[in-house]
Amino acid sequence: MIRLSGVGLSYGPIRALHDIDLQVNAGEVTCVLGDNGAGKSTLIKIMSGLHPHTAGRFHIDDRETVLRSPRDALDLGIATVYQDLAVVPLMPVWRNFFLGSELTTGRFPLRRLRIREMRGTAETALNDMGIAVADIDQPIGTLSGGQRQSVAIARAVHFGARVLILDEPTAALGVHQSGVVLRYIAAARDRGLGVVLVTHNPHHAHLVGDHFVVLKLGATVLDARRGAVTLDQLTAQMSGGDELTELARELRRPA
Ligand SMILES: Nc1ncnc2c1ncn2[C@@H]1O[C@H](COP(=O)(O)OP(=O)(O)OP(=O)(O)O)[C@@H](O)[C@H]1O
Ligand SMILES: [Mg+2]
Repeated sequence: MIRLSGVGLSYGPIRALHDIDLQVNAGEVTCVLGDNGAGKSTLIKIMSGLHPHTAGRFHIDDRETVLRSPRDALDLGIATVYQDLAVVPLMPVWRNFFLGSELTTGRFPLRRLRIREMRGTAETALNDMGIAVADIDQPIGTLSGGQRQSVAIARAVHFGARVLILDEPTAALGVHQSGVVLRYIAAARDRGLGVVLVTHNPHHAHLVGDHFVVLKLGATVLDARRGAVTLDQLTAQMSGGDELTELARELRRPA
């Protein structure tokens, strides 16, 4: 669905990404891993239309493209869920589900929201993904972090995303809530979406990933398919195994 070849991006003199090859396939989870500053968010910003790339080629469905805005990306079916989730905490779940795409009837100044329809549709969409929300009318701010991520995923699926990009969806979550989110990632994959999962956590990546790309200082240091890489290798590549050994020596204390 998406193919990057030799893609790079510089912020003025700072080369944040260089020579990245990446392919996003339908029905697969592509994991992008890397430490702070590795270039993960920059890579997402290219694919979601926030920053156009400054080098290399970007193909969507085999057609060369430069995305000029997030709207361009959405029109092509690329939906991004950012870590800070643009939700309105005090508005009900269904209202957030339709935020920016409200169903209305009539014309200004008599335009009205089709409330009953939106409530029903949001509820069905969440149920279809197996997401349990006690009350579709409760303010979204009262949901747990994992539930909020799940609603965002269901929303992208409902509005016809073909590619779903998630920036650190489990970063602020505990073990149980992370599991919840990972399940919906798998559900989106099973529906045939191409999922891009950005994460610091090799365990989470390894649970759902079909394909792993590790970035370091803006370059690819590992690119492997599931089966060609073990969790240990992934962890070592991620943290720089040597760095951890070094740290262990430095912090060693007498028993
Ligand atoms: N708007 C910007 N202007 C200048 N430099 C930037 C900008 N955004 C990012 N950078 C630089 O690009 C590099 C990659 O940053 P990026 O945010 O992509 O990293 P990341 O892998 O997402 O890190 P983290 O795990 O901390 O989110 C960093 O060196 C960063 O300082
Ligand atoms: Mg980031």
